[in-house]
Amino acid sequence: MPDHEILLDEATIRKRVADLGRQLSVDHPDGFVAVGVLKGSFVFLADLLRGVDLDVEVELIATMSYGDDTRSSGHVRLLMDLQRNIRDRHVLLVEDIVDTGRTLAYLLKLLEQRSPATLKTCTLLDKPSRREVDVAPDYVGFEVPDRFVVGYGLDHAGLYRNLPYIAALDEAVDA
Ligand code: IMP
Repeated sequence: MPDHEILLDEATIRKRVADLGRQLSVDHPDGFVAVGVLKGSFVFLADLLRGVDLDVEVELIATMSYGDDTRSSGHVRLLMDLQRNIRDRHVLLVEDIVDTGRTLAYLLKLLEQRSPATLKTCTLLDKPSRREVDVAPDYVGFEVPDRFVVGYGLDHAGLYRNLPYIAALDEAVDA
């Protein structure tokens, strides 16, 4: 693996994810449908939901906005849709990172059209300095600076999703 700097270690992530799980349990007494955005959210989703003490259903959705590059193409494509109807359900969209905000804006629009009872968003990481569209996630694990990050589900060119920590991979940034 190339030079990298650990920004968030395992213990820090574990504690914050557990806090988020507790907060979600308090805020959603009737339970919710967690919609994980693939691929990046799969590690976060698994750890987050194990800290939620409620009736939770899991749905998965897949989008694509990055190739093997570190900058967004600006276009979001739906690669895989939900299996179940979310009409009148409390829905929590679970993202790995909100960067330009285009993916989140696209998914919010798509899911809102399906008339959920409520639609909230939770992201492990937020990079507000890179925002191009005006979206603000309801729950944020950590704010991160404008550096390309990998690990805990996040990749660069398909690699590093298995790292148990979040690291900045500066040489990957083609600024
Ligand atoms: P956005 O549409 O620009 O907000 O980007 C959303 C998606 O881009 C995320 O769900 C990630 O898959 C990917 N992404 C954005 N920034 C990073 C990063 O620093 N590391 C890895 N993936 C990223």
